[in-house]
Amino acid sequence: MRAPSGYQLAARYRLVQPVGRGGMGTVWRARDELLDRDVAVKEVRLPLVLDEELRAELCARTEREGRATAMVAHPSVITVYDVVTEDDRPWIVMELLKAQSLEELVKAQGPQHPVRVAEIGRQVLGALRAVHAKGILHRDVKPSNVLVTDDRAVLTDFGLAALEGDVSITQAGIVLGSAGYIAPERVLGDKASPAADLWSLGATLYTAVEGRGLHGRRTAAAALAALTSGAPIPMDNAGPLAPVLRGLLQIDPAVRLDGVRAALMLARIAAGGTAEEPIAVHRPPVRPPGAAPPPTRKPPHRGQHRAENRPPAPQVLPHEPHPTGAYTAVPIPAQRRRPAEGSHRKPATYEVPIGPLTRSFWNLVRIVLPRRFWPRKFRK
Ligand SMILES: Nc1ncnc2c1ncn2[C@@H]1O[C@H](COP(=O)(O)OP(=O)(O)O)[C@@H](O)[C@H]1O
Ligand SMILES: [Mg+2]
Repeated sequence: MRAPSGYQLAARYRLVQPVGRGGMGTVWRARDELLDRDVAVKEVRLPLVLDEELRAELCARTEREGRATAMVAHPSVITVYDVVTEDDRPWIVMELLKAQSLEELVKAQGPQHPVRVAEIGRQVLGALRAVHAKGILHRDVKPSNVLVTDDRAVLTDFGLAALEGDVSITQAGIVLGSAGYIAPERVLGDKASPAADLWSLGATLYTAVEGRGLHGRRTAAAALAALTSGAPIPMDNAGPLAPVLRGLLQIDPAVRLDGVRAALMLARIAAGGTAEEPIAVHRPPVRPPGAAPPPTRKPPHRGQHRAENRPPAPQVLPHEPHPTGAYTAVPIPAQRRRPAEGSHRKPATYEVPIGPLTRSFWNLVRIVLPRRFWPRKFRK
């Protein structure tokens, strides 16, 4: 039974309005009345026929998965705020996104551009690699679990597939909603693995770029039969994404594209290139042996001990005293100046040449007047 609007969960989260519905329950926009902010609450629906013990076990498992997901801080991993067991079922409190799921996006807009899909894939793969590094598996990567906002793609519903795929739940009559996205080896009975999550990512990106599910089959078994038939995977729209999709959708997990290489290929395509082309990396030019080192951020100071690093400075004439007693500024040769050097200094003063008549006049003034009455520049 679905909770009514206005229901208060854990004496704290007020359910306001359903924002979406999926195979396992309803997602609500809710108000966290303690922290005074909007949140999303996923109300997990469990089949009524489950016995007490199994129900408690599933609630405990959801709490465990919620705790594990909350350990991972990544912009493309949904932020889980809280997991609550109430009314005999698990509830997951998470960040509320202004988003459409990839499934809704494809339904509304049709096939997406390969460059956009590559960017979504790059981000979702980043989320998967982050959780895999902590030993967490998603188990249910599919278009409805990828939420797309204006500026990011976020993977949600971590660990819920552990419930969804549970034998007892399946026996209780729940139909798997993600049949076309389960890796072939899992259909054949293998356990979940990072490689299986990558296959599901491939199938998700395939749907996004082609606008239809892999082989258009409705069940995992039918999709698997089509894949193992040896026929090439039909791609009309994938363009530069085709090698990534083929690599991720390899039946044999041992030869499947790994996360590192897939990330590199997706990044290249998202940047407008092709999957295989090397990314242009800016490297400083190689210096011939013996050449001066490249300039560092801090310009070398002009101390004596650095002099050997510099090319020999041209001979500079010593400052010559002016006949009037003033010094003539000798310009510093350009090679010895740093680019910004001198801009903070007082500009050098240059003497205007004076004629012999003026000079004799000033010599006379010097003899007649006591020194303290001389013009200041003659006193130096
Ligand atoms: N954190 C969230 N913020 C906003 N909308 C969400 C959030 N989580 C899920 N939704 C919406 O709720 C819908 C149903 O989600 P869900 O119950 O997980 O469906 P499914 O079982 O198909 O994955 C999603 O398609 C999405 O539009
Ligand atoms: Mg979901």
